[in-house]
Amino acid sequence: MTSSDAAPSGSEGLPEGIRPRIRPRRLRATPALRRLTQQTRVHPAELILPMFVREGAKEPLPIGSMPGVVQHSLDSFRSELQRAARAGVGGVMLFGVPEHKDATGTGATDPDGILNQATRIAVAEVGDALVVQTDLCLDEFTDHGHCGVLDADGRVDNDASLVRYRDMGLAQADAGSALLGLSGMMDGQVRAVRDALDASGHTGTAILGYAAKYASAFYGPFREAVDSSLTGDRRTYQLDPANRREGGREVLLDVEEGADVVMVKPAMSYLDVLADAAATSPVPVWAYQVSGEYAMVEAAAAHGWIDRERAIDETLTGIRRAGAEAVLTYWAVEAAERWARG
Ligand code: PBG
Repeated sequence: MTSSDAAPSGSEGLPEGIRPRIRPRRLRATPALRRLTQQTRVHPAELILPMFVREGAKEPLPIGSMPGVVQHSLDSFRSELQRAARAGVGGVMLFGVPEHKDATGTGATDPDGILNQATRIAVAEVGDALVVQTDLCLDEFTDHGHCGVLDADGRVDNDASLVRYRDMGLAQADAGSALLGLSGMMDGQVRAVRDALDASGHTGTAILGYAAKYASAFYGPFREAVDSSLTGDRRTYQLDPANRREGGREVLLDVEEGADVVMVKPAMSYLDVLADAAATSPVPVWAYQVSGEYAMVEAAAAHGWIDRERAIDETLTGIRRAGAEAVLTYWAVEAAERWARG
């Protein structure tokens, strides 16, 4: 091929009136032109790896619905952290899988609870290279599996949950977490935790508000990843997938309450919400490509129905293009390593 297979070589045969005057294909004609005109690039530093650490695990345990993702033992956790740092990703988001759960999720506020323990390890191992972030939500630690505590009628009690979140935030900040990921979707959670941090001298600990978090079927595999005990659903606190305006409102509220970063979650079915947030938010906007989004691509690829690597890159590019400045993705390290190989 010479300069371009889009050149108007055959256009002599076309009547003047319908001969294209504008030819967008010109810029798509060669790899060099495509490279130069590519508008969106995803950099490893914009990827965040979510990681699960399981209390008492002697070896990494595979998660069936998320092929390639494991519940880490402390040893495998350490080596995966080092690998993430070498790959140059931007950070890690930690989740703990405790051995014991109870009604108020006491494991979340115990300084020696698995998540706080894992946080200390991560800070010591890679704290200079990566932003160590922690999930601030009770669901991994409660025996009923809800993101907050329950009232006498079994409903998720917003304000009582905020009291727990404040304590959880302090425990995570004490453990060295740089960025607290508030994913519980209680009203006022950002303000409540910001206040607790500031009142105790943790003014430098940042808050990632999971602002527009939808009640999504795509969290399915995550429930296995954290051995969730949830029965029922989270529709009284997470957003209805049908609501776009409400996503924008939650973003504004989290910003007003002092969030340093806001998040849209899941990612791929919510690109409009993400684009809205990117257009209006004065703070960085991130997106979480959740477990079900990962599982869909892995399952289709395992059947040979799609090209796995192209599909992964297309999802990440799409999320980035829609406005996410960073993406939480279970492919973070794999993608960063592959791109470095070229
Ligand atoms: C709540 C939380 C969830 C996820 C991240 N934080 C589960 C939920 O809200 O039901 C889901 C992440 C994923 O599916 O990858 N702690």
